[in-house]
Amino acid sequence: MAQQEAPRRHEPVLLWVLVVFTSLVLGTEDGPTGGGCADLHNTTWLEYRQHRAQLQLRYLLLTRRAADCAQVFSLQALTDTQRPSDFNASRATKVIVHGYRVIGSKPSWVKQLAGALLRAEDVNVVVVDWVYGASFAYNLVVQNYKEVSLQISVLINQLHKHGCALESFHFIGVSLGAHVSGFVGTLFQGQIGRITGLDPAGPMFKGADTYDRLDASDARFVDAIHTDSDYFGISIPVGHVDFFLNGGNDQTGCARSRFNSMYSYVICDHMRALQVYMSALNGSCPLAGIPCSSYEDFLKGRCLDCDVFGGTCPTIGLSPHSGITVSPLPKEQKLFLLTTSSSPFCLRHILLQLEVSPLDKSAELEVALTTENRGTEQRLRLHTGLTGYLAVLAHPDPLCEIASIRLKNTGARFYRQADVHVKSVCLSEIPPLRREEPLCVNNINVRRGAPWSHDFVQVCAF
Ligand SMILES: *[C@@H]1O[C@H](CO)[C@@H](O)[C@H](O)[C@H]1NC(C)=O
Ligand SMILES: *[C@@H]1O[C@H](CO)[C@@H](O)[C@H](O)[C@H]1NC(C)=O
Ligand SMILES: *[C@@H]1O[C@H](CO)[C@@H](O)[C@H](O)[C@H]1NC(C)=O
Repeated sequence: MAQQEAPRRHEPVLLWVLVVFTSLVLGTEDGPTGGGCADLHNTTWLEYRQHRAQLQLRYLLLTRRAADCAQVFSLQALTDTQRPSDFNASRATKVIVHGYRVIGSKPSWVKQLAGALLRAEDVNVVVVDWVYGASFAYNLVVQNYKEVSLQISVLINQLHKHGCALESFHFIGVSLGAHVSGFVGTLFQGQIGRITGLDPAGPMFKGADTYDRLDASDARFVDAIHTDSDYFGISIPVGHVDFFLNGGNDQTGCARSRFNSMYSYVICDHMRALQVYMSALNGSCPLAGIPCSSYEDFLKGRCLDCDVFGGTCPTIGLSPHSGITVSPLPKEQKLFLLTTSSSPFCLRHILLQLEVSPLDKSAELEVALTTENRGTEQRLRLHTGLTGYLAVLAHPDPLCEIASIRLKNTGARFYRQADVHVKSVCLSEIPPLRREEPLCVNNINVRRGAPWSHDFVQVCAF
């Protein structure tokens, strides 16, 4: 298929491909709804032509009482004494706002996200259904988003009058939904409790004024997860804290390959933020970010701790202020972490410190760490005139489970150093969680073509 070969930078072509493919993939995901339960709107081309003047905004409510069965929610439903609503004004409210939709598709993840939120906290979950406004061409959708925000603000205002504190609202906006949430926040002058942006949309927003896009002034606390900054997502920090996963551009397991469907190639990176967030809500392992000014600095081991936050690294999820207890809160703080390609996504960050004797020629060293059945590899370029090297590696298991280290002098062509004399190689976990001594091996000669390895004898203290 010719379209599959479209280069990634050709946006209009790609958008069209996205339209075609996601309507095939997503359009079939949701079956007919069960009796009595509400579902998000469907859109068809015919309906689009008939209704395009109207947004047909709708709200669905989910609570623990019926976590699988959404009710259509409105203020009338709230005051209806005949059929009392499950909305409880003394509980906090999570507002889910989806983003751009392809005609004929519904955001199939909404129920999953609502379910994860309800398992984590006893809250009201209100889903904003703006499927009509969010479908069709991206630039037209962008024109709709402030009108959507305005309508949502009317509902929030009424709920506020019914006794819901503005601070008790937490908006979770996906892609364009993040900016919709941001503009609701602007309308309430930053008094909303929290906004979480899941890969906030980039095209047409990156250069926008903070009034027009999500930013830290939109709520008391704004956190964002970035997974596709170079394409559908925004590359600049937009919250108090901004988690950049694997640098924020390309995600593990999303590489374009002949074996992937076009769907997984086009929006895999972009949807990763949502998947990681849902996984974090499940609470299987902590997803903590390390503050650093750039991904490159992070990978080079220049940012090793969370001392600026009193030693606690901010985590993805529902902890107030992402776990930050210092004040004032940071603003536009970039946080970096490495993840795996599937749930629960967590990895350990391991600092590799290498000290070599001066080299005559450049060299390339492959470092491999293995536990019982899992491993990680990293290549280091070594240069004449430099004897100390730092690198951050990711490993699925904690440092204390690492059973062996292997060094291989893989040099060829420009990296011709025959023997690399390693004065010391040390491994330590970052951020330093426990008072743990680094694992070190000293005085090793690594010959070309003759890998060196060492087994560690160690026991985990926990
Ligand atoms: C959505 O479309 C399906 C199949 O076309 C239909 O069965 C269902 O009733 C529609 N749902 C809504 C909310 O319009
Ligand atoms: C509303 O929530 C509060 C606080 O969780 C609880 O005490 C109360 O029983 C709830 N009301 C209803 C009608 O469920
Ligand atoms: C979260 O947990 C639920 C229930 O255990 C499971 O069905 C769901 O797949 C999990 N989601 C993620 C993203 O890990």
